Amino acid sequence: MNNLIEVNNIKKNYHTLNGEIDAIKDVSFKVKEGSFISIVGTSGCGKSTLLNIIAGLEDKTSGNIKFKDNIKIGYMLQEDALLPWLTVLDNAMLGLKITHNEKDKDYVIYLLKKYGLENFMNKYPRELSGGMKQRVA
Ligand SMILES: Nc1ncnc2c1ncn2[C@@H]1O[C@H](COP(=O)(O)OP(=O)(O)OP(=O)(O)O)[C@@H](O)[C@H]1O
Ligand SMILES: [Mg+2]
Repeated sequence: MNNLIEVNNIKKNYHTLNGEIDAIKDVSFKVKEGSFISIVGTSGCGKSTLLNIIAGLEDKTSGNIKFKDNIKIGYMLQEDALLPWLTVLDNAMLGLKITHNEKDKDYVIYLLKKYGLENFMNKYPRELSGGMKQRVA
Protein backbone atom coordinates (compact mmCIF):
# COMPACT_ATOMS: atom_id res chain seq x y z
CA MET A 1 0.00 0.00 0.00
CA ASN A 2 1.44 3.39 -1.05
CA ASN A 3 -0.71 5.50 1.27
CA LEU A 4 -0.37 5.68 5.06
CA ILE A 5 -4.13 5.55 5.55
CA GLU A 6 -7.05 4.95 3.20
CA VAL A 7 -10.53 5.83 4.41
CA ASN A 8 -13.24 4.33 2.21
CA ASN A 9 -16.94 5.23 2.32
CA ILE A 10 -17.20 5.63 6.07
CA LYS A 11 -20.68 5.99 7.48
CA LYS A 12 -21.68 6.41 11.10
CA ASN A 13 -25.19 6.50 12.52
CA TYR A 14 -25.86 7.14 16.19
CA HIS A 15 -29.07 5.75 17.63
CA THR A 16 -30.54 8.12 20.19
CA LEU A 17 -33.83 8.39 22.06
CA ASN A 18 -34.87 11.02 19.50
CA GLY A 19 -34.06 8.82 16.51
CA GLU A 20 -31.09 8.19 14.28
CA ILE A 21 -28.35 10.75 13.60
CA ASP A 22 -26.22 10.50 10.47
CA ALA A 23 -22.97 11.73 12.02
CA ILE A 24 -20.94 10.77 8.92
CA LYS A 25 -22.59 10.04 5.61
CA ASP A 26 -19.95 8.93 3.11
CA VAL A 27 -16.37 9.99 3.69
CA SER A 28 -13.36 8.80 1.69
CA PHE A 29 -9.81 10.11 1.51
CA LYS A 30 -6.20 8.97 1.37
CA VAL A 31 -3.27 10.14 3.46
CA LYS A 32 0.07 10.12 1.63
CA GLU A 33 3.36 9.91 3.46
CA GLY A 34 4.71 13.40 4.26
CA SER A 35 1.39 15.11 3.64
CA PHE A 36 -0.42 17.42 6.05
CA ILE A 37 -4.20 17.19 6.06
CA SER A 38 -6.83 19.36 7.75
CA ILE A 39 -10.40 18.21 8.23
CA VAL A 40 -12.51 21.34 8.32
CA GLY A 41 -16.23 21.72 8.92
CA THR A 42 -18.93 23.28 11.04
CA SER A 43 -19.44 22.24 14.65
CA GLY A 44 -21.22 18.87 14.77
CA CYS A 45 -20.36 17.87 11.19
CA GLY A 46 -18.58 14.70 12.33
CA LYS A 47 -14.84 15.51 12.57
CA SER A 48 -14.26 13.99 16.01
CA THR A 49 -16.42 10.99 15.16
CA LEU A 50 -14.29 10.37 12.07
CA LEU A 51 -11.00 10.67 13.98
CA ASN A 52 -12.30 8.44 16.79
CA ILE A 53 -13.19 5.80 14.21
CA ILE A 54 -9.75 6.02 12.57
CA ALA A 55 -8.14 5.71 16.02
CA GLY A 56 -10.25 2.63 16.75
CA LEU A 57 -12.07 4.23 19.67
CA GLU A 58 -15.49 4.02 18.00
CA ASP A 59 -17.13 1.55 15.65
CA LYS A 60 -18.20 2.62 12.17
CA THR A 61 -21.60 1.73 10.73
CA SER A 62 -20.09 0.83 7.34
CA GLY A 63 -17.04 1.40 5.15
CA ASN A 64 -13.45 0.39 5.73
CA ILE A 65 -10.11 1.85 6.71
CA LYS A 66 -6.73 0.51 5.60
CA PHE A 67 -3.44 1.29 7.30
CA LYS A 68 0.09 0.83 6.02
CA ASP A 69 1.83 -2.06 7.79
CA ASN A 70 3.43 -1.21 11.15
CA ILE A 71 2.08 2.36 11.14
CA LYS A 72 2.21 4.20 14.47
CA ILE A 73 -0.51 6.76 15.17
CA GLY A 74 -0.61 9.47 17.81
CA TYR A 75 -4.00 11.01 18.57
CA MET A 76 -4.75 14.11 20.61
CA LEU A 77 -8.42 13.87 21.64
CA GLN A 78 -10.64 16.94 21.54
CA GLU A 79 -10.69 16.84 25.35
CA ASP A 80 -7.19 16.65 26.79
CA ALA A 81 -8.08 13.76 29.16
CA LEU A 82 -5.21 14.49 31.57
CA LEU A 83 -5.45 12.97 35.04
CA PRO A 84 -5.94 15.89 37.45
CA TRP A 85 -4.09 14.26 40.33
CA LEU A 86 -0.88 13.72 38.33
CA THR A 87 1.74 16.35 37.47
CA VAL A 88 2.55 17.27 33.88
CA LEU A 89 5.55 14.94 33.91
CA ASP A 90 3.61 12.05 35.43
CA ASN A 91 0.76 12.54 32.94
CA ALA A 92 3.25 12.52 30.07
CA MET A 93 4.93 9.41 31.52
CA LEU A 94 1.68 7.49 32.04
CA GLY A 95 1.70 5.56 28.76
CA LEU A 96 5.32 4.54 29.26
CA LYS A 97 4.62 3.51 32.86
CA ILE A 98 1.74 1.28 31.81
CA THR A 99 3.87 -0.34 29.11
CA HIS A 100 6.92 -0.64 31.43
CA ASN A 101 9.11 1.66 29.31
CA GLU A 102 10.05 4.13 32.02
CA LYS A 103 13.63 4.11 30.77
CA ASP A 104 12.42 6.52 28.06
CA LYS A 105 11.79 9.24 30.67
CA ASP A 106 14.67 11.36 29.29
CA TYR A 107 12.91 11.48 25.93
CA VAL A 108 9.66 12.59 27.60
CA ILE A 109 11.54 15.38 29.37
CA TYR A 110 13.20 16.35 26.08
CA LEU A 111 9.75 16.58 24.43
CA LEU A 112 8.22 18.59 27.28
CA LYS A 113 11.09 21.09 26.96
CA LYS A 114 10.67 21.17 23.18
CA TYR A 115 6.98 22.06 23.63
CA GLY A 116 7.78 24.92 26.01
CA LEU A 117 6.74 23.09 29.18
CA GLU A 118 10.12 23.06 30.89
CA ASN A 119 8.90 25.17 33.81
CA PHE A 120 5.61 23.30 34.17
CA MET A 121 6.74 19.69 34.58
CA ASN A 122 5.84 19.64 38.27
CA LYS A 123 2.57 21.57 37.89
CA TYR A 124 -0.90 20.01 37.81
CA PRO A 125 -3.29 20.25 34.81
CA ARG A 126 -5.49 22.82 36.62
CA GLU A 127 -2.49 25.20 36.62
CA LEU A 128 -2.07 25.10 32.82
CA SER A 129 -3.65 27.00 29.92
CA GLY A 130 -5.85 25.12 27.42
CA GLY A 131 -3.07 25.01 24.82
CA MET A 132 -0.53 23.80 27.36
CA LYS A 133 -2.86 20.98 28.41
CA GLN A 134 -3.22 19.94 24.79
CA ARG A 135 0.56 19.89 24.34
CA VAL A 136 0.95 17.72 27.43
CA ALA A 137 -1.75 15.38 26.11
N1 LIG B 1 -22.15 9.46 21.34
C1 LIG B 1 -23.00 10.12 20.55
N2 LIG B 1 -24.31 9.82 20.53
C2 LIG B 1 -25.17 10.45 19.72
N3 LIG B 1 -24.83 11.42 18.88
C3 LIG B 1 -23.53 11.77 18.84
C4 LIG B 1 -22.56 11.15 19.67
N4 LIG B 1 -21.34 11.70 19.42
C5 LIG B 1 -21.55 12.63 18.48
N5 LIG B 1 -22.86 12.68 18.12
C6 LIG B 1 -23.48 13.53 17.10
O1 LIG B 1 -22.77 13.30 15.89
C7 LIG B 1 -22.57 14.52 15.18
C8 LIG B 1 -21.07 14.71 14.96
O2 LIG B 1 -20.43 14.97 16.19
P1 LIG B 1 -18.87 15.24 16.29
O3 LIG B 1 -18.51 15.28 17.73
O4 LIG B 1 -18.16 14.26 15.43
O5 LIG B 1 -18.76 16.69 15.64
P2 LIG B 1 -17.48 17.63 15.40
O6 LIG B 1 -17.40 17.91 13.93
O7 LIG B 1 -16.27 17.04 16.04
O8 LIG B 1 -17.94 18.96 16.16
P3 LIG B 1 -17.05 20.07 16.96
O9 LIG B 1 -16.39 20.93 15.91
O10 LIG B 1 -18.09 20.85 17.70
O11 LIG B 1 -16.08 19.35 17.86
C9 LIG B 1 -23.25 15.60 16.00
O12 LIG B 1 -24.55 15.78 15.47
C10 LIG B 1 -23.34 15.01 17.39
O13 LIG B 1 -24.46 15.49 18.08
MG1 LIG C 1 -15.08 17.62 17.63
